Amino acid sequence: MKTKITEMFGIEHPIIQGGMHWVGFAEMAAAVSNAGGLGIITGLTQRTPDDLAKEIARCREMTDKPFGVNITFLPSVNPPDYPGYVKAVIEGGIKVVETAGNNPVQVLPVLKEHGIKVIHKCTTVRHSLKAEAIGCDAVSVDGFECGGHPGEDDIPNFILLPRAAEELKIPFVASGGMADGRSLVAAMALGAEGMNMGTRFMATKEAPIHQNVKDALVAASELDTRLIMRPLRNTERVLSNPAVERLIAKEKELGSAIKFEDILPEVAGVYPRIMRDGDMDAGAWSCGMVAGLIHDIPTVKELIDRIMAQAHAIVHERLASL
Ligand SMILES: Cc1cc2nc3c(=O)[nH]c(=O)nc-3n(C[C@H](O)[C@H](O)[C@H](O)COP(=O)(O)O)c2cc1C
Repeated sequence: MKTKITEMFGIEHPIIQGGMHWVGFAEMAAAVSNAGGLGIITGLTQRTPDDLAKEIARCREMTDKPFGVNITFLPSVNPPDYPGYVKAVIEGGIKVVETAGNNPVQVLPVLKEHGIKVIHKCTTVRHSLKAEAIGCDAVSVDGFECGGHPGEDDIPNFILLPRAAEELKIPFVASGGMADGRSLVAAMALGAEGMNMGTRFMATKEAPIHQNVKDALVAASELDTRLIMRPLRNTERVLSNPAVERLIAKEKELGSAIKFEDILPEVAGVYPRIMRDGDMDAGAWSCGMVAGLIHDIPTVKELIDRIMAQAHAIVHERLASL
């Protein structure tokens, strides 16, 4: 399947693995790229720019295919060394950067100067148009279903994607709730040039996370995610667990007076305890509604081959026969 996205990124299949904190290590990115998609290393999971440089080098040893790096711009009192991370990306010969969070305008000129394509992840049409206006090459349009931060507008992909198609000139991929060949064909029908998956890639053999996390995804249904941090305007979709229920009880009790410090025990330093140690009740971790569509733990190649075969069958058999 050749699309503007496969052409732009030099990949075989229009499938991207979105940056994921404590999941997007070299093993994850290389497995996706080796299977013909675009794997992405999560920049900020690496503690320093130097560590990111080493992670990029490690990934290069595992694949000769293109892979990217995610740089997430977070609201933060002590911002990470963004120029340092960008330097590691450039010196590591990376040709695709996925940006997310705040508008990437500060890093765009230097990335462009080095011939790096930028795909910005947005949860609204207006942010997507802004990304286009400042010179991003593509957008990842992330619907309300998504794992992680869906924004504050709550527009699901059946509306958000065709709205993006109405307005955008640059190509976009569908993100949020994508799991299989049905998702891919639907995304293309709604105007996307491919799809971005997060949660689904966690439940694969190569995902470098604890087996407990993968098992939790297989066990979860589409009813098991919760939205947290809405009163802080930092909404995140996470898998429900006792820590999340505790956090939600605090939100109800404190209302608009809640501060980030009130929920620190449920959100700070949680990722290594969940992803590395498998301590499933340690706190809140991002997870999409798509958990309801995850029923097994294939290899990344099995997953991607299955997606492409199913998409082909839908287009050439089911739809063609109507
Ligand atoms: C565990 C986890 C961690 C994530 N961490 C990040 C991150 O650090 N930066 C980012 O831009 N997106 C992050 N995301 C969002 C994904 O890149 C992607 O946009 C999202 O998962 C798509 O929705 P889906 O889970 O329904 O496929 C994360 C998602 C998950 C599930």
